[in-house]
Amino acid sequence: MTDKKQSIARRPAWPQSTSKPVTTPIQPSVVYASPDADALDQQYVEGSGYTYSREGHPNATVLAQKIDHLECATGGLITGSGMSAIGAVFMGCLQSGDHVLGSTQLYGRTLRLMAEDLPRFGVETSLADPTDIAAMRASVQPNTKMIIVEVISNPTIRIADMEGIAALANQVGALLVVDNTFTTPRGYSPFDNGADIIVHSVTKLLAGHSDAMLGYVAAKDPDLMEKMTIAAVTWGLSPSPFDCWLAERGLQSFELRYDRAEQNAVRVAKALQGCDGVIRVLHPSLPDHPDHNRTHILTGAGGNMVSFELNGGRMAANAFIRAADQIPFAPTLGDISTTLSHPASSSHRALTPEARAAMGVSEGFFRLSVGVEDADLLIEELRTAVAAAV
Ligand SMILES: Cc1ncc(COP(=O)(O)O)c(C=O)c1O
Repeated sequence: MTDKKQSIARRPAWPQSTSKPVTTPIQPSVVYASPDADALDQQYVEGSGYTYSREGHPNATVLAQKIDHLECATGGLITGSGMSAIGAVFMGCLQSGDHVLGSTQLYGRTLRLMAEDLPRFGVETSLADPTDIAAMRASVQPNTKMIIVEVISNPTIRIADMEGIAALANQVGALLVVDNTFTTPRGYSPFDNGADIIVHSVTKLLAGHSDAMLGYVAAKDPDLMEKMTIAAVTWGLSPSPFDCWLAERGLQSFELRYDRAEQNAVRVAKALQGCDGVIRVLHPSLPDHPDHNRTHILTGAGGNMVSFELNGGRMAANAFIRAADQIPFAPTLGDISTTLSHPASSSHRALTPEARAAMGVSEGFFRLSVGVEDADLLIEELRTAVAAAV
């Protein structure tokens, strides 16, 4: 008779096969057993292998290497969310007395970190318009340690003066951190353009299916990378193996998805411009884009994000959302399907109406994260919804 306790405790050898799986296995083990104390010692000395999954695991390593490849980076780190990647940058690179200059158009939670959290740790912060290099320069201080920007702003689709900002960071000896979530490695190459550190919300376009929450960070300087890795491990910013596996699978189609979504976005932007009741449309491919003279910094046609403003305020906005019922109204971006967001009631709701108006984010303002659907059907859906709303 089988001894039940014995059989549960036993760890049979992993079944071997000469033929190998074609997909990456998922390794959910939190701990790794070592052959003896000397072997464990050796692992710690060499920093090789795995011991405890907060410190690293194979699924995170594989995913990091794939994103490294896209970003021309080495030794990048996967974290549990985009925000934890930004947390690792701040925790790993800053100390009390430093100053961080950020773009006024950073992602809302990054702005919150700058406004509320960094000051609690004795780090000074200020914000400036990244499309205005004179304003950025005027905000630099003698203790400016870091400049953090996004290339294309959310939801206003402005293109930062990345050439000016990289030159400024270099001149004053500040680390340049680029959040490349919106642009992705397909639309902008931070390391080729003077950045020291790249961060991503992998949750968005890279993973691409709204089913995994992850971040990525890479630095050119291995010492900085080590500091950020130590911060991430110590503060517990680590990712789950399953999410890494999902993201790796999503990443297989990233370039195809991105290119198709970008082509669709170009067509959607043009089509929306022709709709009665649409006051303005923002996409870098449009000749009337306010930063059209800066599109040369982007590789490709300007990405998959399109913003537009409807006539008729909140009432028209609600009517549009209801009429466009095939397009999920959800505060995210980068999904394989097109999603619609209304910044005044989501990402920018904490701002006063006056502050929103100053950014051009009215009650009729929408941001589309264009997906890979048939562009003709998508345009038809949008045209019908605009006609129903205004
Ligand atoms: C540009 C940008 N950076 C960072 C983040 C944060 O990423 P996550 O939601 O994965 O923490 C987001 C989220 O929307 C984002 O849009």
